This record gives sequence, C-alpha cells and structure tokens, in this order.
Amino acid sequence: MRFFKKHDFGEVCGWEVGCSPVGHPLMTTIFYRAGSVLIDTGPSRMRPEVMGVVPQHSVDAVLLTHYHEDHSGNAAAVKTRFNIPVYGSAQTAEKLSRPYKIFPYQHFIWGATKPLKVDVIPDVLKTKHLSFLSIPTPGHSKDHVAFHVPERGWLFSGDLFLSRRIKYFRADEKILDQIDSLKKILALEFDALFCGHHPQPENGKAQIAAKLQYLEDFYGKVSTHADKGMDEAMIMKTLGLKEQTLVKMICFGNVSMKNMVRSVIRDR
Ligand SMILES: [Fe+2]
Repeated sequence: MRFFKKHDFGEVCGWEVGCSPVGHPLMTTIFYRAGSVLIDTGPSRMRPEVMGVVPQHSVDAVLLTHYHEDHSGNAAAVKTRFNIPVYGSAQTAEKLSRPYKIFPYQHFIWGATKPLKVDVIPDVLKTKHLSFLSIPTPGHSKDHVAFHVPERGWLFSGDLFLSRRIKYFRADEKILDQIDSLKKILALEFDALFCGHHPQPENGKAQIAAKLQYLEDFYGKVSTHADKGMDEAMIMKTLGLKEQTLVKMICFGNVSMKNMVRSVIRDR
C-alpha cells in the first residue's frame, strides 16, 4: 500500500507518506511546506508522490532536519529536477556527500538516499516571507537540526520529539544529547510543533516538556541501577521495561528498548 495524505495546518501543510507490502505502513513520515520552503523530502520509495507535490508550489529552498533516509530520500531528485538548493547542517552535508550503508529493513521500508551536495545552512535563512533559524539538536542523530520560525511560533523538529514516551532508540542515539537538545528547544518561543512523524499543531512546548521529563526520569532510574553494577538485562527486568518485539524483529535489533538502556549506561 502506498500511503499519501495531505494535512492542512493553515499556513503550513504537511504530506504524510509511507509504503508497505500489506496494509497501512508501520511508520509514516511527514514533510512540510511553509512559505516557499520544503522541510524534509520523505523516503525515496515515495518519490512519484513527492515529486508531484513540488511543482504545485513555489518552492525555492529545501531544508533537511537530518540525513535519515525517510527525511532525505528525495532531496537529490528535487534539487536536480527543479534546480532547488538543499540546506542542512555541516554534518548532514558531509554525510550526504557520499553513499552511506543502510540495513535491509531500511532499504525495504524507505529506500536509500542518493548522495547530493547539501549547502550548509546559515544560522538564519531568510526567504521572501519567513525567516528560519537553524537550531542544532543532536541526539537522535549527530547531524540533527530543528528549524524555528519565531514570528509564527513554529518549530519544525524532525525526529527530536516523535512522542512523549518513546519506547526504542536506534543503536547510535545519545540520550544525554537528546536531553540537552530538548532543554535548548524549551527555551524558544513556539506553539506549533511540526514533528517529522507526529505533528502537534498546538501546545507543542508542553509536549517537548513531557518528553524531557520522561527522558530525565528514564536516565535517572537506569543510571541508579547501573551504578549498582546491574547489566542491561537486569535493569530492564527490574524496571519492567519491555521490547516492542515486532519493531525489534523487523529492524534486526537496530531499534530497541535495550538501545535506550545502553545509551544511559554509555553516557553516565
Ligand atoms: Fe530519524
């Protein structure tokens, strides 16, 4: 099934995309348009739908929140076909300058990202109607940035938020960096939180505060047990932390609750 749905948020619109051999996709991604800017580009497996959206709007820049293939998958195609510059952090530019390896499940669900030249985003990108402030927010990935539009109270948060209580990390996620990034974001003025998967058009700040509280509690509990010498398995058992078995299986263990626990043990 190819899933493609437009969401209207007033001045901002988002397109939710994803595909799956049977039934509704397990995970969808949303890319947005605000003014003349696209934020992220969806996965390459959804290229025909994404490429159909671009010419319907006057787009003069693409901003990438991070390099993951469900966000950057069509950046090269949009840049080449429509001659539109693509901006991202210096780390995103470096990562996307050459092909990078992905797991079979990532090929299957999203498809690979073709390398491209990403221009390093300035601290403030001014377009005809809006100014986008780029805010480094590492943790989910090293290269992650969020885009803040103070005059409208918008935050395009990529994969910084996802949900108030996340149940798994990728192997390379860093919990303390995420906590610092969430604190940085909380100091900004915004209300609409345009998450790359679960948009929160109102009260976005409260959602960020709830996630920060959840991660700080998680870090506190896991590190207390780790300091007593418990290993990952004992900590999970003691705290009653369960794996999302289906997700872990599909992702060959690259995405798991154990990775969240490991991230605390590594960072403390
Ligand atoms: Fe991501």
